[in-house]
Amino acid sequence: MSDSVKYLLDEEHLPKHWYNINADLPEPLAPVLHPGTKQPITPDDLAPIFPRAVIEQEMSTEREIEIPEPVRDVYRQWRPSPLFRARRLEKALDTPARIYYKYEGVSPAGSHKPNTAIPQAFYNKEEGVKRITTETGAGQWGSSLSLAGSMFGLEILVYMVKVSFNHKPYRRAFMETFGAQCIASPSDTTEAGRAVLAEHPDSTGSLGIAISEAVEAAVQRDDTKYALGSVLNHVLLHQTVTGLEAIEQLQMADDYPDLVIGCTGGGSNFAGLAFPFLHQKLRDDLKTEFIAVEPSACPTLTKGQFAYDFGDTAHLTPLVKMYTLGSGFVPPGFHAGGLRYHGMAPQISHLARLGMISPRSYNQLECFDAGIRFAKAEGILPAPEANHAVRAAIHEAEKCRETGESKAILFNLCGHGHFDMQAYMDYKAGKLKDLQYDEGEAAMALAGLPSGC
Ligand SMILES: Cc1ncc(COP(=O)(O)O)c(C=O)c1O
Repeated sequence: MSDSVKYLLDEEHLPKHWYNINADLPEPLAPVLHPGTKQPITPDDLAPIFPRAVIEQEMSTEREIEIPEPVRDVYRQWRPSPLFRARRLEKALDTPARIYYKYEGVSPAGSHKPNTAIPQAFYNKEEGVKRITTETGAGQWGSSLSLAGSMFGLEILVYMVKVSFNHKPYRRAFMETFGAQCIASPSDTTEAGRAVLAEHPDSTGSLGIAISEAVEAAVQRDDTKYALGSVLNHVLLHQTVTGLEAIEQLQMADDYPDLVIGCTGGGSNFAGLAFPFLHQKLRDDLKTEFIAVEPSACPTLTKGQFAYDFGDTAHLTPLVKMYTLGSGFVPPGFHAGGLRYHGMAPQISHLARLGMISPRSYNQLECFDAGIRFAKAEGILPAPEANHAVRAAIHEAEKCRETGESKAILFNLCGHGHFDMQAYMDYKAGKLKDLQYDEGEAAMALAGLPSGC
């Protein structure tokens, strides 16, 4: 085994295909349903909001889907991303575990999100779309789509969840630098936003509400479509470049993971790293375990219900079968804004349901503590979302210290926290609390799940 700290691939090794797990699922996914008829949706139903190529990918069961050359060209700006062996962290933890992390913070926006922003912008441009609307939680996705828009000459309109809009003015400035327009959600620019404000004038917003606003704004104009930064099959597909690269990089390290870990908001960074390894596990009957980590304040996989639900608050989206806390649930305003979503990707939900993914949750204070321990050892300050994966990796490494086992732990360091310094300052000043989700509110939201499907 080598003693390297980073494993780098040259541009020639940038994957030529994404990996589509729909080809290998032990049981197929439940169909996506039309919200009116409750019948399986058709490509035509999705055409008002997504370009045709994206709809094809959403429904595809092809194992490999080619990455278009113009997309690979942009990927080359930062991909392949490095895989690190966390030797200093291992030493600090005094653990026999071998800890690896795939670092997606090297992208221009600072996270894994451009992996799907770039192809989505590309496919829209190819089909003559002029403008894309979207939502953003932490601002990472909005930033990524903004830069993708500027690369492909598209107008971008971003509805940013209000609590993050207020916490993170520099994210907004980042988006505007790339020419995007950024509006705090809920806003008075859409019916969906106005309805929320009428009932809750002080609403901090949620991803569910921001999605409603963005979808509503998209369907109002013929030259406009909508892009989603997580949850849907095509988004998870685009993220698999990370896992495909990591497989090659671990070969350079002459190692293989016993555990693959990622934080889960909608599920895309976790899926991106995990699915190519899951493919190998299914094919070769391997023992690798997969841990999806979510915030205790928004415990979709660990406390939610597996049911058909809407992806947004105003019920404009199709119905997908997923773990959900109810589309009306508004998570408390904790700092990992990208993890404040009531649902979870259908593919992740399905695999968790089949017992192939183990979900767990942590509170925000222990996650910030883990992130700072990681930063002190490795020199990289993680995004608050990524701290959830760091927390789990440290937890597992500490277990190895107790048992003497030397497991190989791989996690996705899906973004840096350079725009999240207010959160770190609040944590240091003792101003952050472990926020509990309101079980009554979740029960009410779940009671409103759509019936008849
Ligand atoms: C850095 C970062 N990590 C994770 C997430 C959660 O999304 P996903 O679960 O799709 O990776 C976000 C979402 O905004 C994010 O910005």
